[in-house]
Amino acid sequence: MMDTTADYEEAGRWYTAEDIPTFKIAEDGTVDWPTFSGFRRYNAECFQCHGPDGAGGSYAPALMNSVKTLDYYEFVNTVVNGKQEVNASQNLVMPALGDNPNVMCYLDDIYTYLRARGADELGRGRPAKKAQKSDEFAELEDACMGG
Ligand code: HEC
Repeated sequence: MMDTTADYEEAGRWYTAEDIPTFKIAEDGTVDWPTFSGFRRYNAECFQCHGPDGAGGSYAPALMNSVKTLDYYEFVNTVVNGKQEVNASQNLVMPALGDNPNVMCYLDDIYTYLRARGADELGRGRPAKKAQKSDEFAELEDACMGG
């Protein structure tokens, strides 16, 4: 299991001591904004193949488990460039999503959401309580989306 401990916050996002985006969930269940955003973006962009709550579908693997062994850079690389497994019994295609701003601007959000699910820190469904989006985070988001 890779380290998911939140060490420091920058522009509204938490990072591990190794500078990897991570989640921060308060004792009362309040989820940091980026992780909540990741829940929404996952449902918009990944859900149809990877199934509800990162738990896997009939077509594509459970990403909440993938992120336990796949490191951050491998995760990003797979989403940017796609992946295709071709053998006698199956032909599965992970599309290359590197040109899709609705994915790329929210990829760290999706990653921290999946890591929270994989670490068993976040249950299924929509997180009930979320922290507010910081102004700094909103500015970076707008800049990424070209706003
Ligand atoms: C059109 C269906 C489809 C969509 C949409 C899709 N994926 Fe995939 N994804 C796949 C398939 C199929 C695989 C398995 C490919 C393989 O094993 O070669 C996969 C594999 C992956 C892997 C590698 C998993 C592993 O354990 O090696 C990652 C990471 C991933 N997808 C992330 C995402 C994310 C994040 C999104 C949303 C932004 C997304 N995918 C959207 C179909 C999809």
